[in-house]
Amino acid sequence: MILWSSVLVFLASVLPRIFQRKVCFVYPSADGGDDTAAILSAFKECGRGGRVEFGNETYHIESVMNLTDLEDCTIDVKGTLLWGTDINYWLENSYPIGYQNQSSAWLLGGTGITLSGHGYGTIDGNGQVWYDFNANRSNLAGRPHALTIVDTKDSIIEGMHFVQPQMWTMTIMNSSNVLLQDIYVNATSSNHNTTGNTDGANTVYSDNITFRRWVVDDGDDCIAVKANSTNILIEDSVFYHGHGIAIGSIGQFPDRFERIENVTARNITYFNTGWVFGRYLKTWTGEQNGYPPNGGGGGQGFLQNATLHNTRSIFAIDQCISYIGAMDGCDTSLFSLENIHFEDIHGTSKTSGVFQCSGAAPCTNISLANIDVVNPNGERLDTYQCVEGNMKDTTGISCSGPPTWDYIKYVRNHDTERD
Ligand SMILES: *[C@@H]1O[C@H](CO)[C@@H](O)[C@H](O)[C@H]1NC(C)=O
Ligand SMILES: *[C@@H]1O[C@H](CO)[C@@H](O)[C@H](O)[C@H]1NC(C)=O
Ligand SMILES: *[C@@H]1O[C@H](CO)[C@@H](O)[C@H](O)[C@H]1NC(C)=O
Ligand SMILES: *[C@@H]1O[C@H](CO)[C@@H](O)[C@H](O)[C@H]1NC(C)=O
Ligand SMILES: *[C@@H]1O[C@H](CO)[C@@H](O)[C@H](O)[C@H]1NC(C)=O
Ligand SMILES: *[C@@H]1O[C@H](CO)[C@@H](O)[C@H](O)[C@H]1NC(C)=O
Ligand SMILES: *[C@@H]1O[C@H](CO)[C@@H](O)[C@H](O)[C@H]1NC(C)=O
Ligand SMILES: *[C@@H]1O[C@H](CO)[C@@H](O)[C@H](O)[C@H]1NC(C)=O
Ligand SMILES: *[C@@H]1O[C@H](CO)[C@@H](O)[C@H](O)[C@H]1NC(C)=O
Ligand SMILES: *[C@@H]1O[C@H](CO)[C@@H](O)[C@H](O)[C@H]1NC(C)=O
Ligand SMILES: *[C@@H]1O[C@H](CO)[C@@H](O)[C@H](O)[C@H]1NC(C)=O
Ligand SMILES: *[C@@H]1O[C@H](CO)[C@@H](O)[C@H](O)[C@H]1NC(C)=O
Repeated sequence: MILWSSVLVFLASVLPRIFQRKVCFVYPSADGGDDTAAILSAFKECGRGGRVEFGNETYHIESVMNLTDLEDCTIDVKGTLLWGTDINYWLENSYPIGYQNQSSAWLLGGTGITLSGHGYGTIDGNGQVWYDFNANRSNLAGRPHALTIVDTKDSIIEGMHFVQPQMWTMTIMNSSNVLLQDIYVNATSSNHNTTGNTDGANTVYSDNITFRRWVVDDGDDCIAVKANSTNILIEDSVFYHGHGIAIGSIGQFPDRFERIENVTARNITYFNTGWVFGRYLKTWTGEQNGYPPNGGGGGQGFLQNATLHNTRSIFAIDQCISYIGAMDGCDTSLFSLENIHFEDIHGTSKTSGVFQCSGAAPCTNISLANIDVVNPNGERLDTYQCVEGNMKDTTGISCSGPPTWDYIKYVRNHDTERD
């Protein structure tokens, strides 16, 4: 008896050590200097079949990090990773991501990654310097996304806080089967300069991506589903101040076929989302105006099966988005929008919405069901700016007249309203 229990005690103490994963604890430098080299070396040691742990400390990131090629790797963030503010460095060194001339401060990728922040681990982009530097302008080449998750499969990102991103908070690109849950994003300018382009998340060339229990407070798209995104699920989330869920831009590049398919959003609550509707579908005009990301057009593709459930605000389909600032060419988009269903939407909204469908590729099979939204005067909102001739097989949509540029501008520009 005594012998056996000793053996068990011995095995219980030794076995976990034998099978324990290699662990690399990252120590921040004592003088607050750049911790990037220490981080890269921890991933070199433990990035395949190991665990990398960031303690309850502040880590300074002054250089770009390319942490792709990870495999079966757990990353525990129990402190804060704080990005440096040397704007010229980042403008020159951020990694191009091969989309819209955009770039990223940090690339993370691989198979079987679990990035866990335990509800408090924080990625801080120190974005105020960018909000001030960019001072209300639109896109700026080289202004980096905080994080790009790239070439990633079968991975989980959870319990993380992302604050003050430099630009887009995170981009999920060339990836599949990624679950992102219990994520908090907050991009808030401390002065009157807007945060501009601080989207919560964007999906590009990705399949089967799930966003669950997100809280996003920003001044741009909360979650945007872009080119070649398929099987995207967004659920149980709360969005403040930003645009809401954006399907697009897409159809932006000449001679390039892009599609978005099977996007489901359900149980989403919106507070003061600047697009009065909280959600919208935007595409670029069929005519090319300038060069992305500040212009573009001429692409074509399909958007299918976007289903929105149990949400609180209304929507806009806007096919003439270009940053050029005119309503020209809205009827020329070759992008076809089909099979989009909205149901069970209730709450309050200042205005109803717009379906700016293209005459060249009419919106097909769009339905509204169980929409119960009132304006601040308590009046029911049940007609939309639209032209019936530009829509086919719709259900539950009553058009009040053609969309006006003033109204589209109002919808688009109303994006940074605070409480
Ligand atoms: C991190 O450390 C600070 C003190 O430096 C402490 O106040 C805080 O509770 C710690 N957080 C966690 C999650 O351990
Ligand atoms: C990042 O590193 C991977 C190898 O791990 C390499 O294939 C890729 O080209 C690098 N990306 C950039 C932008 O340097
Ligand atoms: C993603 O894939 C596309 C091609 O499909 C490529 O052009 C782009 O550079 C890739 N992005 C990254 C960050 O590797
Ligand atoms: C905004 O940015 C400008 C230009 O970078 C800067 O001069 C100004 O101090 C910032 N703050 C406010 C409140 O405008
Ligand atoms: C693309 O970005 C580079 C810098 O990263 C910049 O020099 C170039 O002007 C940009 N191109 C366009 C068309 O914006
Ligand atoms: C989609 O991704 C999830 C992980 O988020 C995974 O469990 C599921 O099997 C994937 N579905 C398909 C069809 O690959
Ligand atoms: C975002 O941050 C601002 C400034 O710190 C704060 O006032 C606001 O409540 C935060 N939003 C959420 C949803 O936590
Ligand atoms: C940015 O716009 C806000 C109002 O939208 C204004 O208060 C602020 O002064 C502007 N900042 C600059 C630098 O133009
Ligand atoms: C659409 O995506 C959902 C996840 O949101 C998935 O469960 C479903 O199987 C997908 N539908 C098709 C037809 O692929
Ligand atoms: C809806 O989402 C909220 C989080 O925003 C969650 O607390 C609630 O349980 C969800 N409701 C359902 C029916 O899943
Ligand atoms: C996007 O999807 C279309 C249609 O499936 C395909 O032809 C195109 O190559 C894809 N583009 C990228 C960059 O993956
Ligand atoms: C989209 O809806 C159409 C019509 O209901 C259906 O035939 C098609 O399979 C759906 N596609 C996806 C990916 O769900």
